[in-house]
Amino acid sequence: MPRLEQVVGPEPLLLDSIAQVNQVFTEAFTDRYQRDGLSGVRVPPLNPAIWRFAIAAAGAGAMQWRDGSGQVIAFNLAHCCGSEGWMGPLAVRPGRQGRGIGSQIVEAGIRWLQESGARVIGLETMPRTVENIGFYSRLGFRPGYLTVSLTRELEHLPSGAEGAGLFSVGESASALSACRNLSDRVMPGLDFSREISLTREQRLGDTSLLPGPDGLAGFALWHSASLAEGKPDDEIRVLKLVVKDQTSFRAVIHAVEAAGWAHGARRVSVRCQTGFRDTYGALLELGYRVHWTDLRMTLDGTELAPRNGAVVFSNWEI
Ligand SMILES: CC(C)(COP(=O)(O)OP(=O)(O)OC[C@H]1O[C@@H](n2cnc3c(N)ncnc32)[C@H](O)[C@@H]1OP(=O)(O)O)[C@@H](O)C(=O)NCCC(=O)NCCS
Repeated sequence: MPRLEQVVGPEPLLLDSIAQVNQVFTEAFTDRYQRDGLSGVRVPPLNPAIWRFAIAAAGAGAMQWRDGSGQVIAFNLAHCCGSEGWMGPLAVRPGRQGRGIGSQIVEAGIRWLQESGARVIGLETMPRTVENIGFYSRLGFRPGYLTVSLTRELEHLPSGAEGAGLFSVGESASALSACRNLSDRVMPGLDFSREISLTREQRLGDTSLLPGPDGLAGFALWHSASLAEGKPDDEIRVLKLVVKDQTSFRAVIHAVEAAGWAHGARRVSVRCQTGFRDTYGALLELGYRVHWTDLRMTLDGTELAPRNGAVVFSNWEI
């Protein structure tokens, strides 16, 4: 086998590739978990609605590679949220790994994010997968904090969430610009407007707002559409969360719980970047339980830190 295989790409990853890309996704991640000793795990295909969202959110950062016979053998979705750039999901078809294709797709993602103006470029990977950590490290990424996914079962509307107002971005252009202004204020250049608008347009969820005395104090973008194909929509997942301080953090979590409950969801899931130690502690105090871990890695170890006690959670996984 040649070490460096000839592949066609990057090409734009368009909606008509979803079935093929989903196949590469499920095969590559199932194989990965099996090699990590989780022999019974079968990673299901992702909900096509989630692919449509991720492809639209990534725009020209959604890329695929084909072999000589036209089969999709690799893909990478690079997302630029203003100053923040991240990649995922990305994978190479199992029979084609170890020949340099993975390096090509990650380098293409880095180039696209740099050209798009991202100041931090990162990704998240499985902490137990030493090959992935080694692979990304050779490409210039450095490990940071764990991202811990925490979930809370909603058997009833939690205390604290009863008084939370159900304010959401809805169709309001001024609410969208308030979210953009708050993000930019706490982390200059950060912009989640595209994800907020697409979520609403594609009816995948909404963005809960926390009004404050001097304007917007926080918001959380969440999806209620299930991640895996054919699974019930009984969980809401927070994708992005921006608050100006710790007090607003608890309040915005309650606003998400209230929105989830009203929506019929019975579980809330939050991906907590554990660099925010107090926030992690607050989630545990609120009754959240640890569900999953990912390792955050950034190019050259560069990170953006929010200003003055603000908190920013951004999902660097689909
Ligand atoms: C991760 C993945 C994209 C890599 O693709 P690939 O085509 O195998 O990657 P490449 O062949 O370009 O490079 C692999 C490199 O990792 C290096 N590597 C592997 N294990 C390593 C280790 N333990 N320490 C250091 N480097 C390691 C290899 O030596 C190789 O580097 P080299 O080209 O300099 O020799 C692919 O394995 C995959 O799709 N995995 C399943 C899905 C997945 O995990 N996606 C990423 C989720 S974050």
